[in-house]
Amino acid sequence: MLDLIDKQKLPKHVAIIMDGNGRWAKERGKDRLFGHQHGVISVREVVEGCVEIGVQYLTLYAFSTENWNRPQSEVNGLMELLVTTIRKEADSLNKNGVRLHVIGDFSTLPESCIVELNEAMELTAANTALNLILALSYSSKWEITEATRKIAAKVANHELTVDDIDEETFKNHLATKDFPDPELMIRTSGEHRISNFLLFQLAYAELYFTHTHWPDFRKENLYESLLNYQNRERRFGKISEQL
Ligand code: IPE
Ligand code: IPE
Ligand code: MG
Repeated sequence: MLDLIDKQKLPKHVAIIMDGNGRWAKERGKDRLFGHQHGVISVREVVEGCVEIGVQYLTLYAFSTENWNRPQSEVNGLMELLVTTIRKEADSLNKNGVRLHVIGDFSTLPESCIVELNEAMELTAANTALNLILALSYSSKWEITEATRKIAAKVANHELTVDDIDEETFKNHLATKDFPDPELMIRTSGEHRISNFLLFQLAYAELYFTHTHWPDFRKENLYESLLNYQNRERRFGKISEQL
């Protein structure tokens, strides 16, 4: 599989909705947290896979704004898993040249999470092999609303005029301002929806859906999605003959 992929035609940025942990666990007669724990193995795999093949940005949807509405025990379990995973993995991320970023509403995250995340982001700040962006307590409607508020505030205090507001200005007020838009978005577990993920940034992304549940997702699955992506024609409104 790996040798079929054209390294010159890789997406720079891959975004993944890691879905299906709960169903994966249920199929095994276990509770949902067991699925989330196994999902960490898949995260390690795709991070390694991206570093090995040369994808430069990887965004992982780890916890949505709406996920706060899950049973409290699951929310607590996920937050704990996040803290312990970051603590455990920070050194190996660093050794592999991975730089960690987080997008989402920090004000809603527990203090222990914020401390751990800040440490890992500082530790890895100089790395360049892969930018790993965790979407945590993230929702696209939140992000777009925040951007609008920031721009409106700048107009109100005369830092910006209404005429200054174009797509570029808007993009620069999103949480993803430092990253290119994803060319490929993957969702696992057979669901076909966006679930409030990167609505603005995915405007022209290629969407790839697989029935594989997230805890079963391995490098091979990533490579399969990259190969699939490379066999698509991205027309951006033009016709085939113009490309
Ligand atoms: C994705 O798996 C992980 C998170 C949303 C945190 P789910 O927990 O949504 O698993 P399913 O969709 O219920 O199987
Ligand atoms: C989306 O998955 C959020 C994450 C993967 C973190 P969900 O499983 O929460 O999505 P819906 O609610 O089923 O659409
Ligand atoms: Mg789900």
